[in-house]
Amino acid sequence: MEENTVRILLVASAFNSLTQRVHTELRERGHRVGVELALGDDLLRARVAQFGPDLILAPMLTSAIPEDIWSRHPVLIVHPGPKGDRGPSSLDWAIREDAPEWGVTVLQAVAEMDAGPIWASEPFRVTRCGKSELYRNEVSDAAVRAVLLAVDRFADSSFMPEPLDYDRPDVRGQLRPYHSQEYRRIDWSTDDTATVLRRLRAADSQPGVLDEILGRQYFLHGGHYEDRLRGYPGTIIATRDGAVCRATVDGAVWLPQLRPRRKPGGPATFKRPAADVLGPDLLAGVPEVPVTPFEASGRDTWSELRYYEQGEVGYLEFAFSGGAMSTDQCQRLLAAYRQACERPVNVLVLGAARDFFSNGIHLNVIEAAADPAEESWRNINAMNDLVEAILTTTDKLVISALAGNAAAGGVMLALAADEVWCRESAVLNPHYRLMGLHGSEYWTYTLPRRVGGDLADRLTRETLPVGARAAGEIGLVDRVAPGSAAEFRDWVCQEAAELASGSELADRLVAKKQRRAADEAAKPLAAYRDYELTQMRQNFYGANEPYHQLRRNFVHKVRPQVTPTHLLV
Ligand code: COA
Repeated sequence: MEENTVRILLVASAFNSLTQRVHTELRERGHRVGVELALGDDLLRARVAQFGPDLILAPMLTSAIPEDIWSRHPVLIVHPGPKGDRGPSSLDWAIREDAPEWGVTVLQAVAEMDAGPIWASEPFRVTRCGKSELYRNEVSDAAVRAVLLAVDRFADSSFMPEPLDYDRPDVRGQLRPYHSQEYRRIDWSTDDTATVLRRLRAADSQPGVLDEILGRQYFLHGGHYEDRLRGYPGTIIATRDGAVCRATVDGAVWLPQLRPRRKPGGPATFKRPAADVLGPDLLAGVPEVPVTPFEASGRDTWSELRYYEQGEVGYLEFAFSGGAMSTDQCQRLLAAYRQACERPVNVLVLGAARDFFSNGIHLNVIEAAADPAEESWRNINAMNDLVEAILTTTDKLVISALAGNAAAGGVMLALAADEVWCRESAVLNPHYRLMGLHGSEYWTYTLPRRVGGDLADRLTRETLPVGARAAGEIGLVDRVAPGSAAEFRDWVCQEAAELASGSELADRLVAKKQRRAADEAAKPLAAYRDYELTQMRQNFYGANEPYHQLRRNFVHKVRPQVTPTHLLV
């Protein structure tokens, strides 16, 4: 082992957001990092033998590492709970019990699950939100801190990990059972809104709360407070932009997505906008209760769009489940964007306050469509219309503020703005190949313009995640700021206000207009779009194109047989 450089094999059930983040953070620090998906003990044994790791690290593992591996190699497991917490459903319990503080612990694999010596443990404050949002934010940040500390301690070689000892005052966790549906059940006739929300958030995004609506069984995904609507407990009282609102004994909650329970022998199901799943017949008589983005920003209700102003700056927040943007969602965002453009502000900030910026077109909605190729086409065109509107805004400075991750078309959506500001914790995947797509969103214009042709080619070909700091270094994003999502938001507001009141703004807007005109003269935006859509048309409608199968696998969460080659670097 070279001094302080560790050869680390990441073993994970999926190359998910946390694994990607750990991957980027460790590589940035000069460690040699390989990835192996946990797809079978023999495959893992072979990879360990081939890679020869100093250390095996499991950022997200839902299965056990075989004894012959952990007895011969140091194996550290990232557990999303404080010291002493054990079991497979840590975050579910934390949210159910409304724990104000929680933690992430890095512990060594031993025969007993989660009972090994402790290498590092980091606390965090629990924000009241869905489990997966918590995971991608507070959990992920604490996990990275704990992992980096554990790896430093490992490299130091004099560090002795702390045995798990429940007599120690700072060991406050406990062994808890699997959080099965019996703990998640909602009784709409007695449970108050706070209880219902905790149940929903503890189950979001997986596995959802199994429940009955109008005599049919569904898993409920997501849960948001509603401040005004009321009705008979358990009934669906409103719809809005694909979500449904359901009354509780003392209020109401919004349910954005549902997944029908799979019937024995029936086809696999996946989650989709709740109103689409229930359909117009079941929802007959239920009113659509819209809210404008401006109104939503002053209320405690569910809305994917919020708009507000602070001085000369307009903020258009969009937060889509899983970062996925269907045709309808793109069109609604475009309408809100156009309205924001009418406002007397000179800086416009785009992006969610927390969590995903965007992950591109909505693969689940496409999968459920009668004609997925046609729906893909509509979706990408709706996305392009939005990107085009941003690219052609010349009387305002537009900032994309990424508090969380972005991928594929979602990254390219961000690049349409004049500046891209990114939270240090965000991970970007600026490529489409894993979905078998050429990609559109005018990326052939925006990406090379930022990073140069060679790098644009490499980023889209290598299909690896890029950490925010690395993205800043290569010019993929302009500015990177540390801190929690809330701290990042404060920083964005401060910087945007300064930009709006700065003396250079007028000159920048003139330069922006000139550059757009010059670019248009050199090659019209329509030509980029035509070229990209020609490739996409082939991807959607051509014979032997991998996209439809890859999308199906993604939507149905089909695990690969072996670790994909792009991760084997
Ligand atoms: N369409 C539909 N659902 C999507 C989505 C998309 N474009 N992107 C993400 N999601 C969903 C995931 O299925 C997941 O659902 P779950 O909560 O039921 O598990 C949820 O959003 C969160 O995504 P997940 O994959 O768990 O997050 P991650 O941070 O670990 O990984 C990505 C993020 C972006 C790497 C991964 O989601 C991905 O590859 N998405 C597809 C990107 C893409 O190809 N878009 C289409 C081309 S523009």
